[in-house]
Amino acid sequence: MNINIQPLTESDDINLYREMTFLRFQGYLDALQTNNNPVIAFKASGSNNEPIGLGLAYSADDEALILSVFVDDNHHNRGIGTLLFQKLEQTLFDRNHSKIFVQYQSNNPGIGAFEKILKKQGWTIPVVDKIIFEGDRNIMKAPWIHYPLSPDLSAFPWSDLTDTERSMILYKQRKEQWYPEVLSPFQDEEIIEPLNSIGLRYKGEVAGWCINHRVAPDTIRYSFMFVRKDLQPLGWGILLLAESMRRHIKASMTDKNLIDCRSIWMVEKTNEPMIKFAEKYMRQWVSKVNEFMYSEKKI
Ligand SMILES: CC(C)(COP(=O)(O)OP(=O)(O)OC[C@H]1O[C@@H](n2cnc3c(N)ncnc32)[C@H](O)[C@@H]1OP(=O)(O)O)[C@@H](O)C(=O)NCCC(=O)NCCS
Repeated sequence: MNINIQPLTESDDINLYREMTFLRFQGYLDALQTNNNPVIAFKASGSNNEPIGLGLAYSADDEALILSVFVDDNHHNRGIGTLLFQKLEQTLFDRNHSKIFVQYQSNNPGIGAFEKILKKQGWTIPVVDKIIFEGDRNIMKAPWIHYPLSPDLSAFPWSDLTDTERSMILYKQRKEQWYPEVLSPFQDEEIIEPLNSIGLRYKGEVAGWCINHRVAPDTIRYSFMFVRKDLQPLGWGILLLAESMRRHIKASMTDKNLIDCRSIWMVEKTNEPMIKFAEKYMRQWVSKVNEFMYSEKKI
């Protein structure tokens, strides 16, 4: 059987390929025709142009990553996944990136084959990057959800962040790197969930945030949580998370999509206090725990 690997373009029937990537990336396919599009897509198709596989990557000024590779079940183990992967890798390096990376969940059924491809292509040995907790309404049984914010603090909708506050956050970051860049509140801004993404004000200054994203119509991902270092020992990060989750629960009473309060909490593996908290006070109330792996390749 002849397999063609070609760029996926707006002249293709995008809908035939939509389910060949994760829900959170499906929207990228609609943007293929826009100028300066950071998304790279390759399709694998058969002799009658029938869809067989899809590879997706992302190339922006500051980062380049492979988002997903998928091959239809009936065509596994024929080298198609490897070919798609090689095309994405080559295209990213052709765009002058000196380092490219991939992040993926370790519980996908195809992970054995995917990791084999990484190895064959000379990528680094995958390491655990984040722990992912998934849950629903059951989390309301966790006692800490009901702990109120300390009276010294006020929470505000992130959408109310003023331009001056935004500039201050960025200015302080340039000057003293006061938060780890992976927890920057300014990532994936176009899908920030307004319902329960909140900032924390302490003595009139922004001192933290809990930034969330609607990754599926019924699911909110708690993505980037940070509290200023000198305030961390006070446990305010947990109070901030609890406040954000209470807003989620409240929204579920009016937003039908959110009725089950489906949630994903991402915790950086290097964030030891948060990992400890999540293992001790969260794990028992969630339905699934999974790992996010990371691997990279440098030119
Ligand atoms: C991952 C995926 C794209 C691989 O596609 P594919 O076309 O079957 O891959 P290839 O044929 O190019 O290569 C597969 C390699 O993995 C090996 N392999 C297959 N199943 C494996 C397993 N369970 N464990 C280890 N290796 C395995 C094959 O033997 C082959 O190795 P080889 O080249 O040395 O013979 C495909 O399995 C898939 O679509 N899975 C679902 C989506 C997914 O999980 N994607 C990865 C995260 S984005």
